[in-house]
Order: sequence, then structure tokens, then C-alpha cells
Amino acid sequence: MTAAMSKEQVRFRAMTLEDIARIVEIEQEAFTTPWTSEAFRNELFNNMFARYYVMVHEGRIIGYGGMWIIIDEAHVTNIAVSAEWRGNGLGERLLVELQRRAVGFGANKMTLEVRVSNEVAQRLYRKMGFEPSGIRPGYYSDNQEDALIMWAELSEERSNDPRGHFGEDDGDTEEQQS
Ligand SMILES: CC(C)(COP(=O)(O)OP(=O)(O)OC[C@H]1O[C@@H](n2cnc3c(N)ncnc32)[C@H](O)[C@@H]1OP(=O)(O)O)[C@@H](O)C(=O)NCCC(=O)NCCS
Repeated sequence: MTAAMSKEQVRFRAMTLEDIARIVEIEQEAFTTPWTSEAFRNELFNNMFARYYVMVHEGRIIGYGGMWIIIDEAHVTNIAVSAEWRGNGLGERLLVELQRRAVGFGANKMTLEVRVSNEVAQRLYRKMGFEPSGIRPGYYSDNQEDALIMWAELSEERSNDPRGHFGEDDGDTEEQQS
């Protein structure tokens, strides 16, 4: 399905326990070594640094992203858009939203690892201000693929990017549920 998407049609809110089954569905179609429900539950309940968000269209989760906020650094742990919704600018919107929220938490830079073969994601990251800063050799356990480490500077200006402001927050209080 090609999703004709207008910016008013998606909303963001903090991930909750009830979201995990759907998140794991997307995770499994997106990654060769997907996180389990338990891994997400741990992030939500046991990791004080973790902040996870879902992107919702007509009540259905179509993407999500998460990060650890460690003082002034935001470490993105995962970001994915449901396969049928890719190519509509939603991955970019999701990342803008993570960046905006990271700035809100006091981060001034953001980092992530990406498979060296994942050119789609790398293009998105470069477009969003990330630059390569090194390689973690054999980082991915399934095929020992290297990870490219990327960093972006964050700024208030970027956090005010209108692409990050579409739809209401659906009651998101900026708090991780507990
Ligand atoms: C990476 C991912 C989140 C991108 O989401 P998306 O909604 O498809 O991306 P967007 O439509 O917002 O595209 C944003 C940019 O990404 C890049 N991009 C997206 N699709 C692309 C494609 N098929 N080929 C090349 N570049 C592409 C482009 O730079 C694009 O900007 P442009 O349209 O101005 O050229 C999505 O492909 C995904 O979930 N992939 C599987 C999980 C994954 O790899 N996550 C990243 C792990 S590090």
C-alpha cells in the first residue's frame, strides 16, 4: 500500500506497555535481530535514561523510535517505520521528533549506530545532520557486520523544525510511563 500522508495525520506520544505487541511486530519486519517484548519492557520500566515514542496514524502505531538521554547526549537505540508506510517522509518526521524531544531534555548532540550496508537509513541520517565519526567492527552479532557511528549536533533551531510539529501529543506528558 502506498500511503498518501498529510502531516496532520500522524501523532506522537510516549510508548506504553500496551504498545509493545505492535512495536515488536514492526521491529520484526524491520530488523534481522529484533528486540523482544522483554527488551522493550525493560527499557520502559528499568532504564531511567530511556525515552521511547510511537508514531500513530488513525489509532494505529506505524513507527517508533527510542533513545537514551545521558546528560547532554542522546543515544538513539532504534527507529523504524512499518514497511507499508516507508518512503512517505515519516522516518524523517520521527527523527525530527526525537531530536526535538532530545533538545527538550537538554541534549545538544545525538548519536547512533547503523549497519554499514543500511544505505537508506544512512541517507536519512545525513539529511538530518548526522556525520560519520567511526566504525565499530563486527558490531552486529548476526553477520558480524560493522556499525557506522554517526553524530549530529542538536540545536533549539532544529528542535523548532515545523516538520516535528504535526498533530497533538495525544496526552504525552514527556514522561516515560512507570
Ligand atoms: C530507515 C527508515 C526509518 C526510514 O523511514 P522512511 O519513512 O522510509 O524514510 P523517509 O520517507 O522519511 O525518507 C527520509 C530520507 O531517507 C532516505 N530514504 C528513504 N527511503 C529511501 C530509499 N528507498 N532509498 C534511498 N534513500 C531513502 C532519503 O534520504 C529520504 O529523504 P528524501 O526523500 O528527501 O530523499 C525506514 O526505512 C525503516 O524503518 N527501515 C528499517 C529499520 C531501520 O533500518 N532503521 C534504522 C536502523 S539504524
